[in-house]
Amino acid sequence: MKLFDVYSQHDIAIVKGNGMYVWDDKGQQYLDMYGGHAVISIGHSHPSYVMRIADQVATLGFYSNAVKLPGQQELADKLGALSGHEDYQLFLCNSGAEANENAMKLASFVTGRSKIVALRKAFHGRTSLAVSATDNPKIQAPVNKTDNVLFTPINDVEALRALFAAEGANIAGVIFEKIQGVGGIIVAEDDFCREAKRLCEEYGALYIADEVQAGCGRTGHYYATDRAGFSADMYTMAKGIANGFPVGAVAIAPHIEAKKGMLGTTFGGNPLSCAAAIAVADVMSAEGLVANAAEMGELLMAELRKLDGIKELRGEGLMIGIEFESDCSEIKRRLLFDHHVFVGSAGTNVVRLLPPLCLGRQQVEEFIAAFRSAING
Ligand SMILES: Cc1ncc(COP(=O)(O)O)c(C=O)c1O
Repeated sequence: MKLFDVYSQHDIAIVKGNGMYVWDDKGQQYLDMYGGHAVISIGHSHPSYVMRIADQVATLGFYSNAVKLPGQQELADKLGALSGHEDYQLFLCNSGAEANENAMKLASFVTGRSKIVALRKAFHGRTSLAVSATDNPKIQAPVNKTDNVLFTPINDVEALRALFAAEGANIAGVIFEKIQGVGGIIVAEDDFCREAKRLCEEYGALYIADEVQAGCGRTGHYYATDRAGFSADMYTMAKGIANGFPVGAVAIAPHIEAKKGMLGTTFGGNPLSCAAAIAVADVMSAEGLVANAAEMGELLMAELRKLDGIKELRGEGLMIGIEFESDCSEIKRRLLFDHHVFVGSAGTNVVRLLPPLCLGRQQVEEFIAAFRSAING
């Protein structure tokens, strides 16, 4: 059987990882400033993570949500403490798209309404409603087309107000990334987010913060949205929450009441996935990785500002977009093949940095030296 060929790939086979580095099948080492797409949060193959997963699978790999699974409550307590939202409720699933799908569905259940407000350039995943709320017609199949999603431009307060004035009675919720990742590291301004939250309250809609990429400590706050000074009604998570083990989650405000059977999944919250996410939460707390993301993010930004040839720097913490005047694929090629550094991209002109949150000063220096040289050719 052949693989279903949907990914554009580098001709590199990665077979090993440790901390901030990965290795290919020929033994070549690479600095990972991409984190496997913002997924590696505590570093590759962290010993506590490896041990916790190995212990769990040797004890109980899986049982279903038909019984109590103690790891779920342990994880909920730890995420509550890490995020500072102890009074929220946790629903566990398996991916970012699924977390968003469930959050939007819940907003619709709770309000009895059917419209979702999403932002231009948003990316929320590939499942049915998540892809409908994703501003990219190329990845929406005809079956995903719906008039239930209303798109509005990011940071345009007047357009948002006009949309609520026209459709407010039908709006179940808004779904916003505080920093758009796939969109090119575009920051939703604090004032814009605060006004969206106020409009949600005025019209009885719910604010869903898509923290799949920006969340779990990456920006130097556990939830990037909280920086704006208010709490979302729901926060969706995935990627960094379990360092590569497939886990999705929705943290749900206490005023939203659960009803038996309203959401559900076979794999979500299974003992092995909880063990992985608990190990990540423990390492994040013990090693102060959220604070480290803030500190290393500032250092990276300060060093990047010294370089010539960059059009704009955007982002926060360890979610950084470096925009060039023109296509920067040659810079990325040099970084990967000449300097052995992985970075991400967004469109043709933006380099995206999404490194593990354990990034240290030495790797910042290593990256800046490689990047300077790649820019200068
Ligand atoms: C902001 C955001 N939301 C949702 C998703 C979808 O997550 P997943 O690929 O785990 O379904 C992504 C993936 O890149 C994302 O960046």
